[in-house]
Amino acid sequence: MTIPFEQIPGPDIGSNFFSQIRTMSAFSQNLIESTGNAFAEHGDVVALTPLGDRMVLLRHPDYIHEALVTKSKSLEKSPDYTDPKKGLARFVGAGILTANGDFWRRQRKQVSPAFHTQRITAYADAMVTAGDKMLAQWPAQGELDIATEMMHVTLEIIAGTISRYDLSADADRIDAAMDAINDYNSKFSIIPTWFPTPMERRVRQAVKDLDDIVYSMIADWRKNGEDDGSLLSMLMLAEDEDGNHMTDKQIRDETVTLILAGHETTANTLNWTFKLLAENPEAEAKLHEELDTVLQGRLPQLEDLRQLPYTEMIIKESLRLYPPAWGVSRVAKEDLTIGDYEVPKGTIINLNFYQMHRDGRWWDEPNAFKPERWSPENADNINKQAYMPFGGGPRVCVGFAFAQMEAQLLLATIAQRYKLSLKPGQVVTPDAHITMYPHGGLPMIVTRREVPMQSANPQQEAMPV
Ligand code: HEM
Repeated sequence: MTIPFEQIPGPDIGSNFFSQIRTMSAFSQNLIESTGNAFAEHGDVVALTPLGDRMVLLRHPDYIHEALVTKSKSLEKSPDYTDPKKGLARFVGAGILTANGDFWRRQRKQVSPAFHTQRITAYADAMVTAGDKMLAQWPAQGELDIATEMMHVTLEIIAGTISRYDLSADADRIDAAMDAINDYNSKFSIIPTWFPTPMERRVRQAVKDLDDIVYSMIADWRKNGEDDGSLLSMLMLAEDEDGNHMTDKQIRDETVTLILAGHETTANTLNWTFKLLAENPEAEAKLHEELDTVLQGRLPQLEDLRQLPYTEMIIKESLRLYPPAWGVSRVAKEDLTIGDYEVPKGTIINLNFYQMHRDGRWWDEPNAFKPERWSPENADNINKQAYMPFGGGPRVCVGFAFAQMEAQLLLATIAQRYKLSLKPGQVVTPDAHITMYPHGGLPMIVTRREVPMQSANPQQEAMPV
């Protein structure tokens, strides 16, 4: 027996147009809390019908697995990604993050080789160098907005791997574009896009800035037009099955996609990691010990990652508690069932990784930061299906190996040299729109550490960096 959509429980959003707009606006103000409350009250499947649209929210790993993996062919990316007027596509165009169908398949095939292990390992040194360069600007002790620092260092890394073009002068314009995208996508609005609201003006400026920046990168690459090992040259030189190259517009869309998808998520992984470490001094001390023992004061390299298991466990646990891509959406291309629930064609399906990652049915002490749960001895206790920080199925994050390597190398580089603390009583709360980030930034006190230096003289144990 299946359960018709109309019988799926959900919050009361009112019966008339205005009450529904009001309720949905309030709902989208604090998505973490409102979706959490809705699941707590109604269970694993929650229905919403704003203005006659159908929407279901899912948090159960079996249902999320069905949507992303076993029934992925019945679903596609939803209009909040694909709609060129109102979705993420307004900014990134038809890149692999927002495209559907055959076009997406062709683009994924052309972009994926850029992320093969052999190719991305070449970027490890650039990641550490960028981290080291950032630390050279940090005071021995003082307050910094870590969210800004992480955003800039990850932007420098992704920009440096995409092309040899120096993006540092454009960092502020890219930050502003990211803010505009997040704000725009978080607002439940029925105002048409031709109406020049302040938000609409910010959006137009963001699109213009992204165009200017990326077309300059393309023009710069064309001066030599050679494979210089960068992602951009791979895209420029890639040929599809018929031997065609991508158009400049396609290259622009894929490049903007990689810049946007490839830095804010990793920046937020590090933000949440530093917040969690500051709140968990035992884990922090264990991390420092691992880094000091293995690295002995030198910068980390790719080969060190195998010797830094605790560093990896910390990143995994941070991605569990604060998955930067906290939820993703799809739309049903045809009538289907998820579990026993009927999901009619056209229904928007929201998969909530954040709630799944904090569910006591799959995780022991779900809200506690316990990197040890990821140790090899505990591997059998992990319910892998209940952990999806990089999504799953055919549309799993194309950059996940790149991101894991980057997060671990940057954590090792930074935590070896600096201790990051919160101010007494400081509470950091998440804001969740497309991604989940610390509300109001992440001011932290940075204090340079004394680390043991590798030395021929065993008596010389500790030296300031
Ligand atoms: C910790 C960092 C990251 C997280 C948590 C993350 C998470 C995700 C998730 C959950 C998806 C699936 C979206 C969906 O199913 O709708 C995704 C897709 C994607 N990610 Fe990432 N990502 C990260 C880093 C990166 C990096 C570094 C890059 C590129 C350099 C990247 C590029 C992409 C692209 C292009 C897609 C779309 C893939 C497709 O639809 O075929 N991501 N990411």
